[in-house]
Amino acid sequence: MTADLLRALRFMRRYALLAGLAVLAVLAASAADLVAPQLLRRIIDVGITGSRTDVIISGALGLIGVAVVGGIATFLQGYLSAKASHGAAYDMRNAIFEKLQGLSFSYHDRAQTGQLITRVTSDVDLVRDFVGGGLVQAISAAILLVGAVTLLLAMNWQLALVAFISIPATIFVLVKFVGNLGPSFRTFQQRLAALNSVLQENIAGVRVVKAFAREPFEAERYRAADTLLLDQGLKVRTTVANAFPLLFSVGTLGVALVTWVGAVQVIHASLTVGELVAFTSYLMLLLQPLFIIGFGAQSIARSGASAQRLFEILDATNEVAELPDAMALGSIEGRIEFRDVALRYPGATADTLSDLSFTIEPGTAVALVGATGSGKSSVVNLIPRFYDATGGSVLVDGHDVREVTLDSLRSRIGVVMQDSVLFSGTVAGNIAYGKPDATRDQIEAAARAAEAHAFIEQLENGYETRVGERGVRLSGGQRQRVAIARAILIDPRILIMDDSTSSVDAETEALLRSKLDLLMEGRTTFIIAQRLSTVRKADTILLIDNGKLAAQGTHAELIADNCLYAEIAASQLVGGERDSAPGHCDFPDEGGEG
Ligand SMILES: Nc1ncnc2c1ncn2[C@@H]1O[C@H](COP(=O)(O)OP(=O)(O)OP(=O)(O)O)[C@@H](O)[C@H]1O
Ligand SMILES: [Mg+2]
Repeated sequence: MTADLLRALRFMRRYALLAGLAVLAVLAASAADLVAPQLLRRIIDVGITGSRTDVIISGALGLIGVAVVGGIATFLQGYLSAKASHGAAYDMRNAIFEKLQGLSFSYHDRAQTGQLITRVTSDVDLVRDFVGGGLVQAISAAILLVGAVTLLLAMNWQLALVAFISIPATIFVLVKFVGNLGPSFRTFQQRLAALNSVLQENIAGVRVVKAFAREPFEAERYRAADTLLLDQGLKVRTTVANAFPLLFSVGTLGVALVTWVGAVQVIHASLTVGELVAFTSYLMLLLQPLFIIGFGAQSIARSGASAQRLFEILDATNEVAELPDAMALGSIEGRIEFRDVALRYPGATADTLSDLSFTIEPGTAVALVGATGSGKSSVVNLIPRFYDATGGSVLVDGHDVREVTLDSLRSRIGVVMQDSVLFSGTVAGNIAYGKPDATRDQIEAAARAAEAHAFIEQLENGYETRVGERGVRLSGGQRQRVAIARAILIDPRILIMDDSTSSVDAETEALLRSKLDLLMEGRTTFIIAQRLSTVRKADTILLIDNGKLAAQGTHAELIADNCLYAEIAASQLVGGERDSAPGHCDFPDEGGEG
């Protein structure tokens, strides 16, 4: 945990100059703190005792000067360290964001949004507290401590030894206290993240909650997570609250002892009153750093727990990583080959895909057909390397997809996913997402090809209409058409459409299909469709059953001799007139052999 904090200090490297100046300011402030008691001693012993007004005046002026210097230095220290630590926090947030963006689908499948958001916000702030406040305070405390100890010893070593009696006791209390606090703070951050996860899920899913009238249940779930957080917060507070009175008692005991022994020495004239006053002032300076270290220890415990959570993200291994010597994929024809491909999702106990081998010639339209959960989406997700095959290889124009750069691979593949997410912004901006420099003409052409132009024109501000987060102000079919336009605009050599015409009405689908030929021209296209009419037009059909390739052929070939295909065509695909199943199939019971 402390090791994580030291690592977090690396984020301060860019701000080393600011941090260095902050430490200088701390030195100045500490020096002022250490000089003041000496001035006081002079005022008392020389000025008051010797009735010398000039010494009193110069001493008082000196005290004012020291206070001014101390004030300015303290201000500078706060300002400079805030500037440095906010800069470091800025870099931390950006680093984590970039890391999260780089992490593969499989990481995000497992991660909870609320967790990640808590780490980028709250945990970064806590680490910042340390590098900004805690660290500089600890440095100043250490300087004060060493300075005060030296001066105490120099002034009166017998009295100093009396004063030091309280130090081991203080350190004992601190050590016990910090040991308890670290794990407590980690639990606190975990519970905060859990609470945020419930919050995030509820806000994202608020429509489902309302549709099923589950508000009371969700409110209860949130309250339960909140109660856990409250309990932990109170527990942490209690630990802190228990430790501080103890620290103060130990400290006060030291002052009492010194005053007693010192007073006796003054009576025996081995110590002057001024010296005793200066001495107790230094004793305060000695206790102050101990308390600061106490508070700092709390900050260290807390920030350490957060730093650990940050590095969990920064150190996460990327399952789909680019090879160091990956080459950029040049222009391609669009030949796809699967060689004995197997896929097992991380954490799964069985293969989702296995023994998958097929070759698709450039410019071919391929339809993937299979029962729900059979692995159709999993197959197409391997082409842009959303996941990596766990066995065999996937080749694009003869290149293993793992040997080319992700950028060059993905920029040649247009993907319309099963659930198309749009970003908050304009319709035009969403269509141009993959090609931000597209002209309005190109955007419109893509929209026309995706049968989206007509409805976009009718929106209140046409292409400049703003769609809400996730595109909620569009219908499901409209959203899909915008997503298709978005995929087409980058003019990909390979086009993947996962269920992308399912929520488009029959009429639009017919229109879209007439244009689909145009869309598919010169591209290798993979379509996972629910409509018989779309499937029938494909050059080749891959029938997926339980993660295996059950059959490959045209619609006419498959319907003639494949019972499973005939059954799926009859029961799962919608629209179009039916062809009769082969006579030997035990139909419509379970589809027969593969
Ligand atoms: N990201 C994932 N992590 C773990 N398992 C997954 C993941 N995605 C899919 N699966 C599992 O892999 C199997 C195949 O899923 P896939 O999404 O490929 O099916 P599909 O044929 O596209 O189904 P549908 O027609 O319903 O879209 C399913 O059993 C599913 O539970
Ligand atoms: Mg799917």
